[in-house]
Amino acid sequence: MGAVLLDGKAVAAKVRAEVAQRAAQFAARHGRRPGLAVVQVGADPASSVYVRNKRRSSLEAGIESIAHDLPPSTSEAEILALVSALNHDERVDGILVQLPLPKGVNADRVMDAVDPLKDVDGFHPVNTGLLAQKRPRLRPCTPYGVIRLAQEYGIALTGLRATVVGASNIVGRPMALELLLARATVTVCHTGTRDLRGEVERAELVVAAVGKPGFVPGEWIRPGAAVFDVGINRTDAGNLVGDVEFESAAARAGWITPVPGGLGPMTIAMLLSNAVDAAFYRAGRAPGAG
Ligand code: GUN
Repeated sequence: MGAVLLDGKAVAAKVRAEVAQRAAQFAARHGRRPGLAVVQVGADPASSVYVRNKRRSSLEAGIESIAHDLPPSTSEAEILALVSALNHDERVDGILVQLPLPKGVNADRVMDAVDPLKDVDGFHPVNTGLLAQKRPRLRPCTPYGVIRLAQEYGIALTGLRATVVGASNIVGRPMALELLLARATVTVCHTGTRDLRGEVERAELVVAAVGKPGFVPGEWIRPGAAVFDVGINRTDAGNLVGDVEFESAAARAGWITPVPGGLGPMTIAMLLSNAVDAAFYRAGRAPGAG
């Protein structure tokens, strides 16, 4: 393997230590710990693992974890009522509604109902819009984690040809906005892209976020490129693999994230960082100020 492994686990531990320090500062100044509400509706097995991790990591960082587990039969109106109660709860600084939501619930309406100042996922159109206008506030966790990981390893993004594979609202699109903010030259690939291979081959930095195991063959990777693999796919044998063919990509890349141990831990660390940011933002404002 020629590539440097981007150790998301180690960098996430560093971020979590910083978060714990800031959470303690907040508690000393305001007489309460920052509060993060994590809402799960139903019992999707992958979601349950993520939610458990998020709650445990919150507590370890000195963040109050407020758990709401709702049955799969919960209606959209009931979810909206809970979100509204959390918006008005002074102990709650961050609200995360785990996706996917059950069929029949309009996830956009639920996400739009979260107070943008408590939107620790960074999914609210206000936060997306602020990022698009290069004045980021609460930033989507996985893309923010890619940027932080690149910074930690001294990967200079200015002027870099960056290709994002996948254009979802959760990762691909905000990733493109983050890379643009960092002054990379950004290409976004999606199902309408004509020459995916050509776009990846040109890239000095690749972010893969499609959710398909081995979707990006290693031979497409430009020698020396930085490869960030957001995919977390479970194989039939029960192993976790990314969206990039790891061995063949690692033989060509300059840097590469492992799966697991890459962006998974970084995403949780940036969520905790957002929760403490949200607590400080809110404390600095009059109640109800937008
Ligand atoms: N489901 C998969 N990833 C995420 C995420 O980052 N946030 C939320 N809320 N749900 C998810």
